[in-house]
Amino acid sequence: MIHVRPHLAVATPAFHVRDEIDTDFVAREALLDAAFGPTRFAKTCERLREGRRPAEGLALVAEGADGRLIGTVRLWHVEAGSAGAALMLGPIAIDAEARSLGLGGALMRVAIDRARRFGHRAIVLVGDAPYYTRFDFTPEATLGLDLPGPVDRTRFLGLDLVDGALSGASGMVEATGPFEAIARAA
Ligand SMILES: CC(C)(COP(=O)(O)OP(=O)(O)OC[C@H]1O[C@@H](n2cnc3c(N)ncnc32)[C@H](O)[C@@H]1OP(=O)(O)O)[C@@H](O)C(=O)NCCC(=O)NCCS
Repeated sequence: MIHVRPHLAVATPAFHVRDEIDTDFVAREALLDAAFGPTRFAKTCERLREGRRPAEGLALVAEGADGRLIGTVRLWHVEAGSAGAALMLGPIAIDAEARSLGLGGALMRVAIDRARRFGHRAIVLVGDAPYYTRFDFTPEATLGLDLPGPVDRTRFLGLDLVDGALSGASGMVEATGPFEAIARAA
């Protein structure tokens, strides 16, 4: 049986995708620690996330039928050089015991679909190309762009949500999202 909730984005009998809420923090961080280990904070992409809030409506979790948080993905506001406003996707992680069941794909599809519907123009990320090419991310889309730290260019990928959004883009990708403390105070 499929359990439907008001804010439901995707459902199967085994899990559903919903917006992240504040009380997901501990479970989300534990999931990310387990997936990436303590060095995750040293990643170049972390420079685009630290101290910021994710883009509105683009912090998603997958929740198991037992209520456990088993997946997370967030997207962040960036300026993608000459391409202008865009999103940076990551990290995405699925609980090791729940992988290869389609949760990662479900989170990616909901995130991309929402980003497009919200009017965002492009998404960049750093990750395994063999996984992200299925969602049409390519390394060609980011060829002229730079990140604020070292990056393996074969893993630096982009996706146009609006035709040609990243076409010919050059320059530095910079964080532009609202700062956490200021956003909370507001
Ligand atoms: C990557 C990740 C989010 C995928 O989630 P998932 O729920 O297992 O993904 P799905 O069930 O939608 O898709 C599974 C498919 O993706 C493939 N896949 C998973 N991770 C992959 C990777 N890093 N590179 C290439 N393919 C990958 C699986 O082999 C499987 O392939 P198949 O459909 O041909 O059998 C998950 O494996 C994870 O959390 N990994 C650890 C954290 C991580 O590395 N995150 C970022 C990836 S750069």
